Amino acid sequence: MRIGIIGAGSMGAGIAQVAASADYNVKIYDQSKEVCEKALIKLDKILNRLVEKGRIDDMKKKSIQDNISIISDIEDLKDSDLVIEAIIEDEKIKKNIFSNLSNLVSDKCIIATNTSSLSVTSLASSCNIPERFIGIHFFNPAPLMPLVEIIPALQTNQKLVDKVYDLISGWGKSPVIAKDTPGFIVNRIARPFYGEALRLYEEGIADFKTIDNSMKQFGGFKMGPFELMDFIGNDVNYAVTSTVFKAFYYDPRYKPSFTQKQYAEAKWLGRKTNKGYYDYSLDSKKEEIEIDSVLGNEIFNRILVMLINEAVDALYMGVASEEDIEIAMTKGVNYPMGLIEWGREKSFSWCVKMLDGYYEKYHEDRYRCSPLLRKWGSS
Ligand code: NAI
Repeated sequence: MRIGIIGAGSMGAGIAQVAASADYNVKIYDQSKEVCEKALIKLDKILNRLVEKGRIDDMKKKSIQDNISIISDIEDLKDSDLVIEAIIEDEKIKKNIFSNLSNLVSDKCIIATNTSSLSVTSLASSCNIPERFIGIHFFNPAPLMPLVEIIPALQTNQKLVDKVYDLISGWGKSPVIAKDTPGFIVNRIARPFYGEALRLYEEGIADFKTIDNSMKQFGGFKMGPFELMDFIGNDVNYAVTSTVFKAFYYDPRYKPSFTQKQYAEAKWLGRKTNKGYYDYSLDSKKEEIEIDSVLGNEIFNRILVMLINEAVDALYMGVASEEDIEIAMTKGVNYPMGLIEWGREKSFSWCVKMLDGYYEKYHEDRYRCSPLLRKWGSS
């Protein structure tokens, strides 16, 4: 099977490494020759590090590199069996690529997008045979993150879903199947991890460091919400939240935060600008602080219960199976436990009581309990 990749940025290059490591032949096309050259240099560095660590030998390194070729004309993708697009997140530009590409390749070629926020169904409509179109959503960095969300468009042929699932499993990844809805699985369910943390801060309940340390010390999360937002970039995280909010027809549950908007506007984007919620030139983030257990548990429980509600509601709305929702949150964002299992452990009736308490306090739709969680909580 010959693989084509469009876009040699962080995702495209990462996906190429994954496919080439699984011994597939990969051609990469990018509109910028410079990006392609940089991608190859970066790949060489990554592979050298893997050799140093003993994860691969020199022969494997050479075979991965031999499997990848850079092409300067998109026409050279015409003999591909699968093309994965990973260019800029712009619907018009992506649709233009798909419309050209679908007339270039054979009718049997599978066409996929790595989009994280656009409608796969809408993108499929730009393809001459929409039945062969599918979302294959890798996580960053693609070679390290095991999760891949497979998102059939409304038009996608079911047989294709199984084929892509098997292919991605063969690349050593953990695929899950997600309905084509805003944010798919991870970017939908994870929203409260950021949103509720920002809300706690805005209400003056705690500062960034207290919230982060509460989630780590009481919840076992590897990173706190503010550390993670600084890592992702406040511009990127704010854009994802805004897109999901809009795509849900302004459901208040996904409302973005003014704090994050302002941090993005101030260009306090996080690690990449050396300043975000933390100042990275001071290295102040590293100090662990002792958190009062009452406050720490209050913060952790509030964010956790919002996450559990989101996970159960995604199940209720048929976004994915329970098993896939659990895989997605543990393998895509490294949560210490599946959220539904966590809800069961805490007890669903406790979750309902907590949510109803917030709803009673704030009278905001943001805290409405999923019908399925309420059903589980009363049985
Ligand atoms: P990036 O900005 O690193 O790379 C995009 C590449 O596309 C650039 O090299 C650019 O030259 C190229 N490009 C733009 N327009 C093009 C065109 N018309 N033809 C050919 N090449 C073109 O972006 P990144 O982060 O790799 O993201 C790519 C896609 O993957 C986006 O759809 C994004 O939403 C998605 N994604 C990103 C993740 C992330 O964390 N960065 C995670 C999962 C998905």
